[in-house]
Amino acid sequence: MAKVKIAVNGYGTIGKRVADAIRAQDDMEVVGVSKTKPNYEAQVAHYLGYDIYCPAENIGAFEKAGMPAAGTIEEMLEKSDLVVDCTPGGIGEKNKPLYEKVGLKAIWQGGESHPIAGFSFNAASNYQQAIGRDIVRVVSCNTTGLCRVISTIDKALGVNKVRASLARRAVDPNNIKKGPVDAIVLDPVKLPSHHGPDVRSVLPHINITTAALKVPTTEMHIHIVNMQVDKDCTAEDIKKIFSSESRIRFVGNGITATSEIMETTRDVKRSRSDVWENCIWPESIAVSDREFTFFQAIHQEAVTIPENIDAIRAMAELETDGAKSIEKTNKALGLSNWPL
Ligand SMILES: NC(=O)c1ccc[n+]([C@@H]2O[C@H](COP(=O)([O-])OP(=O)(O)OC[C@H]3O[C@@H](n4cnc5c(N)ncnc54)[C@H](OP(=O)(O)O)[C@@H]3O)[C@@H](O)[C@H]2O)c1
Repeated sequence: MAKVKIAVNGYGTIGKRVADAIRAQDDMEVVGVSKTKPNYEAQVAHYLGYDIYCPAENIGAFEKAGMPAAGTIEEMLEKSDLVVDCTPGGIGEKNKPLYEKVGLKAIWQGGESHPIAGFSFNAASNYQQAIGRDIVRVVSCNTTGLCRVISTIDKALGVNKVRASLARRAVDPNNIKKGPVDAIVLDPVKLPSHHGPDVRSVLPHINITTAALKVPTTEMHIHIVNMQVDKDCTAEDIKKIFSSESRIRFVGNGITATSEIMETTRDVKRSRSDVWENCIWPESIAVSDREFTFFQAIHQEAVTIPENIDAIRAMAELETDGAKSIEKTNKALGLSNWPL
């Protein structure tokens, strides 16, 4: 079967990972990646053998920098079946008419709001509803992390109410332009934070409220999640339910910090030290009546990457069974039982 041809528009934190993840699959291929500036990230794309596409007015700059562009962004789109838009939040919306003009299927990221596609995606929650769709939004890292645990518990026990507090990494490791360097920022002051409503864009029936703080770190978010469920349960029941979901993994061996998780992924030589799974501390699961609380860590740069691959597979109708797509994506990416 011919591979589905994918354009990756925007080759930054998310785009470079999506491109590599597509390359790892056997049913889809990367037509090219786009950059506006011929900087160090473009140089890496060139080194890795990706065809680079750029705005027409920048073709000369790429040529001069020794990494000639394969063409314009419009030309990349014309050669493709589907585009994954990984441009900064707010830019993706401006690209919509470009995709419509070529009649391309399109995926946007969580930096765009729900109405851009009218359908927000998380593989464990609503894969089936994405089959054959033309436009989809893959929700943000925090929302992905919340949807995975909520939908898993909802299927097993029924979720009545969720209250979650989020300590958000301030910026990604390579971002030298933003802080905070020494502060905890209420993000935002007015509650709830946007994460709860965003979860409801995937799981509309969930009663959820969230509050978020930005903390001076680049390594992962931490969530304190509290759920009320419809059935009696023990901490052991919750552990068993979480362990049935392949993109949830348990953290042990004395790890008490995000930096120790990242150190482990560097040590076991995961690509870019990426953690594609939710990391839950099973020891933290505390149950009281039909209510429980736990800690999880979410690697912002990585957690949405397998979701993009599953979204492509559903939209291109390469696989109608969500569980099979998740398994195929996981295997190709290399999710394995490395020690944590
Ligand atoms: N970073 C995260 O933790 C994270 C997690 C989940 C979801 N997201 C979402 O994913 C999306 C991308 O975020 P990101 O963090 O990957 O951004 P990023 O690191 O800033 O990368 C954005 C990329 O888009 C390129 N770009 C900018 N304007 C463009 C345009 N008009 N046309 C084509 N390419 C353009 C940039 O290249 P130039 O520098 O050459 O302009 C850059 O390669 C956002 O919606 C964000 O909210 C981010």
